Parts: sequence; structure tokens; C-alpha cells
Amino acid sequence: MYDLEFIKSVLKRKLPRKRYIHSIGVCETAAWLAEKYEVDREKAKIAGLLHDYAKYLTKHEAREYIRHFNIIIDEVMEENIDLAHGLIGAELIKNEFEINDKEILDSIRFHTTGRNEMTKLEKVIYLADYIEPNRKYPGVDDIRNIAHENLDKAVLMALDNSIIHVISRGRSIHIDSILARNEMLKKLS
Ligand SMILES: [Fe+2]
Ligand SMILES: [Fe+2]
Repeated sequence: MYDLEFIKSVLKRKLPRKRYIHSIGVCETAAWLAEKYEVDREKAKIAGLLHDYAKYLTKHEAREYIRHFNIIIDEVMEENIDLAHGLIGAELIKNEFEINDKEILDSIRFHTTGRNEMTKLEKVIYLADYIEPNRKYPGVDDIRNIAHENLDKAVLMALDNSIIHVISRGRSIHIDSILARNEMLKKLS
């Protein structure tokens, strides 16, 4: 359906080497999770590869694209404009790669914050971003282990980790991360 090798060659030119390697890691981990949790494997690979496509915009460029694509962002995202790289990335990918699949685009859109009622593909990309093999942070192996057993539980752990990290930096938590966490808690109770 999509030309993975072409996408990889574009990413290799566009992203710093470290981020390119991360993107390959997310792609492979997403493919594994997709297989395990019965999600379309090809969509997971494409979304995994492209999820950080807009990660290296300057603040100015990010704001320009937000205006250009009429993306609506809230105050927390306005203050932490890096959070918008998923939303912007999805629009750029639509235009530059002619990828119009809503599931793929949404999984890229919401990989930075999560959201209420995440689709399975959104969970797969969110989680793959956290546990791909190049990720190294305290607790990552615990999340990796749970990823083998329960998708929702592993996503909850990743959300917890992310929210704690945001708190430790004294930043505001995006409402969508809270909604995603509350929903996972409810589903698991
Ligand atoms: Fe990202
Ligand atoms: Fe990422």
C-alpha cells in the first residue's frame, strides 16, 4: 500500500540521525505490538516511522503551520508548542506523502498527549514511542514487560511516567493526557 523504503529515505534526509534511529525503533516495536494486539501491521509501521516527522520545527515554524492548517490548540499546547508536533506532523504527512488514512493520521496526531477513547492503533503508537529499544529511562523495562501482557495496562504506565515527568519539570499537564489516563484506569478497574 505505502512505500516504506521511500518514506525511510525521506526521513533519513530530514531527521537528525538519533531521531531517525528512534523512528525505525518505533516502527519495529509498533509492528510487533500490532501483531500481538491485532491491529493493522502496515498502518502501525507507517505511523511509527512518521510519528515524529514534525519534531524539528522551530517554534516560529510550528506556529506558522498551526495557522496555515487551521489547527486549534489550547492554552497548554500554546505554552508547550512542542506538544503540537503530532498535530502538525499529521497535516504535513497528508500533504507530502498523500496519506489520507484517518487511523494512521490520528495515531500520529495524538502520540504526544494521548486522548480520551484512543483507538488501538493510537495506543500501539503511543506505547511504541515509549518502549522502542533505544529508549532508556528508569522503569522502561517494567513497561516493556507489561507490554507483553496487557496493552491498556502498559499504556497506563507510559501515561503515568509521562505525566510524572511533566510534573517534575514544573509544566502544565495537557488535559488529553489526563483524559487518556482516567479512561485506562476505568477500563482496567
Ligand atoms: Fe513525538
Ligand atoms: Fe517519538
